[in-house]
Amino acid sequence: MTLLTPHKDVSAFLASPQGLRIGDARIETSALLDVIDPSFDTLATQVALGGADDIDHAVAAARAALEGPWGSITTHDRGQLLWRLADAIEENKQIFGELDAIDNGKPMHVARDVDAVYSARHFRYFAGWPSKIEGRTIPVSSPGKMNFTKVEPVGVCGLITPWNYPTLMMAWKLAPALAAGNTIVLKPAEQTPLSALYLADLALKVGFPPGVINVVPGFGRDAGAALAAHPGVDKVGFTGSTETGRRIIEGSVGNLKKISLELGGKAANILFDDADLDKAIEGSFWALFGNNGQSCTAGARLFVHRSIKEQVADRLAEMAKALSVGPGMDTTAHDLGPVISRPQMEKVLNYIQAGRARGAEVIAGGAQQGDSGYFVAPTVIQSVTDDMTIAREEIFGPVLCLLDFEDEDEVIARANDTDFGLAAGGWTRDVSRVMRLSDQLKAGTLWINTWGDTDAASPFGGMKQSGYGREMGEEAIALYSQTKSVWLG
Ligand code: NAI
Ligand code: MG
Repeated sequence: MTLLTPHKDVSAFLASPQGLRIGDARIETSALLDVIDPSFDTLATQVALGGADDIDHAVAAARAALEGPWGSITTHDRGQLLWRLADAIEENKQIFGELDAIDNGKPMHVARDVDAVYSARHFRYFAGWPSKIEGRTIPVSSPGKMNFTKVEPVGVCGLITPWNYPTLMMAWKLAPALAAGNTIVLKPAEQTPLSALYLADLALKVGFPPGVINVVPGFGRDAGAALAAHPGVDKVGFTGSTETGRRIIEGSVGNLKKISLELGGKAANILFDDADLDKAIEGSFWALFGNNGQSCTAGARLFVHRSIKEQVADRLAEMAKALSVGPGMDTTAHDLGPVISRPQMEKVLNYIQAGRARGAEVIAGGAQQGDSGYFVAPTVIQSVTDDMTIAREEIFGPVLCLLDFEDEDEVIARANDTDFGLAAGGWTRDVSRVMRLSDQLKAGTLWINTWGDTDAASPFGGMKQSGYGREMGEEAIALYSQTKSVWLG
């Protein structure tokens, strides 16, 4: 193991507690939030800890910016600022990579070359939108009357993000919300506040008016709940657990704020016996182990056709055992980092235990790895059945569950037998079957002969209890806009 010496800007950033970012001020708080490095179970730094009063203050700043310079900015200038922010993220991808590697634990090269680079691309895609958000002229059946629509921002948006992709999930929400003309109060996950604070500084640097993007790190139950319930917030965009999604809805009832929710998943991935087996095994492996299984779209239930289940299980177990794990800042090439926190590690290990207790068989991993940091050995479990807890609940860690099936109708029904509906898919060479899968699988995103692809231009979101609203693409602009119908007589 060779640890990277942090970039000098990262060292400076971590040297003393970063304040809240409200307007153009950095605000210190008496209470501080511990930022833990999950690779070592050590304190990386502390940042200001926001509460309900700070959320009030940030909402007021966002409102003032909306009614001030941001509300009257031209669409050209709005797009240009988004483009400049994209450039700034890309130019500073090393910093973003290190910050996400430190508080999330993911390998720095992944955080830099995937998370940060895709975040920059996300802003670039949405930089093109402000000048293309158009209303319609509607041929109403009222003689002498004219009707047209205007598409306007929703207003002040509270964005609440998770810890699994700190920079990228922030970009997914911020870019369309800003493109549509809103102002922002962002509450990053308490585990991973660093990249959000840094991004707020870059936004000011490239010329966003103060108050357009405010960042208040804090706990979900305090700052998060205050933001969700705030009467001055017009919309909340949330990614996280289904349980917290319900809290967000409850918080919204006071002022009926608009909500979009991207929640948990338990994706079914179906490996048919006619698949290109090498490609299917490789794809299904990373469908789960990508980001250490900490993805809402993780291919967590792998249904393998009974005729090939032994060979598929053997190969997946071999691949899992060959994975290397290491600290986020380790420069030695490694595949996976730790899971996010001690509670999350314990939760994942408890699920593995629950599977064992029900008779499922661990064929790779199955335990904590190493004695510092929150590492869970990449785990493959076979002989999992539909009724087991590990087949029904989101584990959110490096645990791949193998189930087997006999025929197509049966497996599609079982794949759909879940409260979640974020992603699903499968592997087959049969084109007619591809058509049937695309009709019958109940999920917001289907991946067939591939897994995990996303693109700023392609809508993403959940059916059933995986949430509502679609992020990305033109749907994301709609998510952060509202329509006004104007009649002239
Ligand atoms: P969480 O859903 O509680 O946290 C996500 C965000 O919501 C964080 O910013 C948190 O501070 C905030 N939050 C928490 N309680 C809140 C409240 N009452 N009001 C407003 N905001 C609140 O997820 P957590 O506790 O970190 O992880 C628990 C499980 O959730 C994981 O094991 C995983 O299964 C799932 N999860 C799913 C994610 C996804 O991408 N869909 C992301 C993170 C977690
Ligand atoms: Mg929680």
